[in-house]
Amino acid sequence: MKEDLKKYFDEIEHLQYSERLPFHASLFENKAIISKFLWDIHSHNAKKFYINNNTKYNSKLEEYGYITGKLDKKNTDLLMKIFNSCEKIKFDPFDFDSDYVYEPRKNLHDDMIRINNYYKPSKFFFENLPNILNPLKQTLEQENQFYWRVASSRIFEVKPVSKAQGFHKDDQALAIKKLFFYPKGANRKIGSTILIDKKGKETIIELESGSWLLFENSLCEHQAFSSEECVGRPTIEIDLMPDFSTDTKIEYHGINGWYPWIPMQENSMEIKGGLDYKNVYDRNLKRILGLCEINKTDTYRFPCEFSDYYKEGNNVFKEGNNVFEEINEVKENNINIKEDIKEDINRAVEKNGLITFLIVFFKTIPNIFLKKIIKKFK
Ligand SMILES: [Fe+2]
Repeated sequence: MKEDLKKYFDEIEHLQYSERLPFHASLFENKAIISKFLWDIHSHNAKKFYINNNTKYNSKLEEYGYITGKLDKKNTDLLMKIFNSCEKIKFDPFDFDSDYVYEPRKNLHDDMIRINNYYKPSKFFFENLPNILNPLKQTLEQENQFYWRVASSRIFEVKPVSKAQGFHKDDQALAIKKLFFYPKGANRKIGSTILIDKKGKETIIELESGSWLLFENSLCEHQAFSSEECVGRPTIEIDLMPDFSTDTKIEYHGINGWYPWIPMQENSMEIKGGLDYKNVYDRNLKRILGLCEINKTDTYRFPCEFSDYYKEGNNVFKEGNNVFEEINEVKENNINIKEDIKEDINRAVEKNGLITFLIVFFKTIPNIFLKKIIKKFK
């Protein structure tokens, strides 16, 4: 590839808030749209693969949106030891690996800092957490209805605060699920998680020390439960993603790194003809009907058209080393976005005078110009 382009994305995604340019948000959104499509197809295939290779199972997770469980005495003690082996650190919103989905919004970063204390995963954490995951392997497969891998992990403690984030869904790929281990349990006294299950019932999770909660974080509304009287709720979070075989190896991709933007990026498994396009097509026809439930409109429009695909002479999908040739040229009233992105990439890749460039950029580019860039990328 396109190492330059990969590096460019990495650079702009790690810029401080004040250094971001308006069109960086468009790049993020487009990446998120493509990621959602790819995860949808991958998750569907992984699930189909699992179902075809296993006997029927009625998943409570799929029915209610969450399940809970309890570790045995030995693993409850180990869980506490694992949590205690990790040192408290300051939350850094720009700590995420390249190619990993990250939360870009400052207001959400502020909430995370206000509500949680964060911890750095220790060597003991990486070495011992698989011992806790291994006995849960099959239960988690059956409940998820897919083979799974660890996408990422986080260690945190919900602080005593009068107000949590408010009910929300996480907006991640739908098959990604959150698995919380509570070394000291979860309840109104210590702090907990509240969620609204798929039947519409609001539940405060009440669990003993050494318990776990697996929930559909992008399908069920949820929030942390805390109060000023709470003593703090330690949590070890493991994010699960679908795959074609299960692996309990612990992955950590930074405090704000969640799951790969593109599924199966680092997988040696071959699908071996398992990608059934007819099935995907049929499913999407059905899906269009289903989408009317959540996305209603009375005007006809194409919300997102990849029109560059049809442009004659376009190089986006061709192999090649010159990344600048692969960025579509858009001209309107003598505005050339290609040149602006090219300059932006050059600065980021070379890392020379990036800050100087951005200061000059903001000082000299008139507002109207920026507005037109935003409009073009919308
Ligand atoms: Fe959440």
